[in-house]
Amino acid sequence: MTLREEIERRRTFAIISHPDAGKTTLTEKLLLFGGAIHVAGAVKSNKIRKTATSDFMEIERQRGISVATSVMGFEYRDVKINILDTPGHEDFAEDTYRTLTAVDSVIIVIDGAKGVETQTRKLMNVCRMRKTPVMVFINKLDRPCKDPFDLLDEVERELQIKVRPLAFPISSGTTFKGVYNLYEHNLSLFTSDERQTADASTVEISDISLPVLDEYVGGRYAAQLRSDVELVEGVYDAFDRDAYLRGDVAPVFFGSAVNNFGVRELLECFVRIAPSPRPSATETRAVEPAEARMTGFIFKIHANMDPNHRDRIAFMKICSGMFERNKNYLHVRSGKQLKFSSPTAFMAEKKSVIDEAFPGDIVGLHDTGTFKIGDTFTEGEKLKFTGIPSFSPELFRYIENADPMKFKQLAKGIDQLMDEGVAQLFTSSLNGRKIIGTVGALQFEVIQYRLEHEYGAKCRWEPISIYKACWIDSDNAEQLADFKRRKHTNMAVDKHGRDVFLADTSYALSLAQENFKDIRFRFTSEF
Ligand code: G4P
Repeated sequence: MTLREEIERRRTFAIISHPDAGKTTLTEKLLLFGGAIHVAGAVKSNKIRKTATSDFMEIERQRGISVATSVMGFEYRDVKINILDTPGHEDFAEDTYRTLTAVDSVIIVIDGAKGVETQTRKLMNVCRMRKTPVMVFINKLDRPCKDPFDLLDEVERELQIKVRPLAFPISSGTTFKGVYNLYEHNLSLFTSDERQTADASTVEISDISLPVLDEYVGGRYAAQLRSDVELVEGVYDAFDRDAYLRGDVAPVFFGSAVNNFGVRELLECFVRIAPSPRPSATETRAVEPAEARMTGFIFKIHANMDPNHRDRIAFMKICSGMFERNKNYLHVRSGKQLKFSSPTAFMAEKKSVIDEAFPGDIVGLHDTGTFKIGDTFTEGEKLKFTGIPSFSPELFRYIENADPMKFKQLAKGIDQLMDEGVAQLFTSSLNGRKIIGTVGALQFEVIQYRLEHEYGAKCRWEPISIYKACWIDSDNAEQLADFKRRKHTNMAVDKHGRDVFLADTSYALSLAQENFKDIRFRFTSEF
């Protein structure tokens, strides 16, 4: 197969949802279709449940599971599908944001009874920023759900994207009859399936005005479907794939993941319309997947579970060319040539050494602590991929050394954990103290635990009252200098030496924005 053919048959995507909407279940069903697993229950949930906050072993165990399920590859109709897993727990949202930089499209799962929830809204903001094509799967139709039109309106309003239903449900809950596929013109009849592996029964209905529809779903629901479909066709524009690829419109499917219902339709449509690897932006130029030379970047680093082996796995997304085992590649940041003797790929729950990989694939690289998120590999060109975000954290604490004998271990541990993107480190300009900023409270516990178990260092947290950290810069050097002088006690630098303003309150922040018009206050930065 040529490079171009390999690229064209790849679909790399992530499933995102608010916890409990059914992401894990849907992932599992997709893997079942791909034959990557054979029984339900094989994909362990990587959910770090709220109740686990004080149970470190549980967190560690679950982190281990999430390594195994970080990337799940499978083939379906000659299409190579890579699903990138994202942590469900919102304290690990940053991990999810970064994973979204490595995907070419996204499937959003929404609970049909609950509608759009907070986490989904936040994740969609990232997709919108990156113009990632999204498909929506409205799940749990076997339970009483909101009205489908209300749901569609809600998705449009809350996620700020136009929608186009490609399937439409017939009732929900105990009277759920099935889903009419608007673009294949067939009807999938819902029969709850205990084994949850079989395909639902599908009947071809070329024209829903025919009386045969009444036979399948009963007169009342047949009439309802006819009027719903008429409304859909009247209200929504015809589905436009280019608009989907631009991230302007989201096709919507309905189903019940746990019953394996509506999943095939979703997958069939996905392999047909979802994009193959797209060009990737760098500081200097756009890299086309079909370029002959290999390029890739690291979007995620995962520590080893075994505390005796501090090695990590770095996940590299291949952006162009063919990646080969044992070939020298330039690690652009260090300028060193590196080769990998045992790069891994992930097929369902199995990890195996691979000889080659293509754009869209994710390769696991063994890392002894040299890599950082955002690191680029090439065949010589000095490129740096852009757009890997770090978000302004929302929770802050001073970190202090609790064991004076282990100063070095602590410094190394903090350094490496920050490279992994677990949290962000700021150094106060006022007193030189180190401040850790996170997006979730759980991270503080994870950091403390990992420093102790992986680096043999002890830390102590001390409170600090900060509302938000934002990166500042300006073309007006005078105003910037003036700002930094006046706000000296609230200034810090991040790990890369960039200026950060630590606002005490939202009022202080808006006042600063008001009074210093030439200064840009940024809430995201890049690795
Ligand atoms: P998540 O990864 O998005 O957090 O969600 P997950 O798939 O774990 O699903 C959350 C819960 O919703 C699970 O129940 C799952 O069985 C259920 N679920 C998923 N899809 C459907 C569906 O189509 N209909 C219904 N009725 N339920 C669905 P749980 O009780 O939390 O876990 P489990 O004990 O069933 O695994």
